[in-house]
Amino acid sequence: MADDDTQISPEEAFAREDGRLLFAGECEFLMGAVGLDNLPLSHLPEVAFAGRSNVGKSSLLNALTGRNKLARTSNTPGRTQELNFFKIGDEEKLALSVVDLPGYGYAKVSKDKVAAWVKLLKSYLRGRPNLRRVFVLVDSRHGIKASDAEIMSMLDEAAVNYQIVLTKSDKLKTPERESVLARTQDEVRKRVACHPIVLLTSAEKKWGIEEVRAEGAKVARNG
Ligand code: GTP
Ligand code: MG
Repeated sequence: MADDDTQISPEEAFAREDGRLLFAGECEFLMGAVGLDNLPLSHLPEVAFAGRSNVGKSSLLNALTGRNKLARTSNTPGRTQELNFFKIGDEEKLALSVVDLPGYGYAKVSKDKVAAWVKLLKSYLRGRPNLRRVFVLVDSRHGIKASDAEIMSMLDEAAVNYQIVLTKSDKLKTPERESVLARTQDEVRKRVACHPIVLLTSAEKKWGIEEVRAEGAKVARNG
């Protein structure tokens, strides 16, 4: 959301500057993986963007890097059909592996295809040793849905650290933004692997982007 910089701690201010520099640096598309063999960048700390089809994963990644066409976005749900790997930053200084994941919860492609994606997604989320955080994107207009809860439970069980990022908040009026944030924050409280802070964003208006970059920088710093 639009920030009140007077309220952030010096650590958070540092992380935001760190995040700004990290995402302003080099940013390279490496590969789209359809399977889990020979995945790149397994030596770098990694963050992944997961969420239902059309929630805005690719758009958020573009907003973070300030590059409009880095990750392909679309009005057609199911646009991203592979695990897309990007290297952000400079390995000599600070770098992060970023993965744009195929969306889940989209019914219009064939059942077999959905099943294959979910299987790939789950094996990746459970079995990637350098995966440090999954940003689970949730449409702020809808809140956490059953398919999100299913992924969250799987991450809890696999002890994979994750954080909820509400998207498309420009589509809500201010009081609605506040209530969905409070409600979502409440819903994640009991989840063991979930970060207690929920981030509210709009890729369109560039709201909350600094906060997500800061989280990325913290992950990159912690190695
Ligand atoms: P899949 O790859 O199909 O899973 O979709 P995705 O989650 O990557 O979504 P994508 O970024 O392609 O965005 C889907 C649609 O939502 C596009 O039409 C975007 O322009 C729109 N969109 C994404 N973020 C925002 C936002 O913050 N605000 C608004 N108003 N629209 C957005
Ligand atoms: Mg996408």
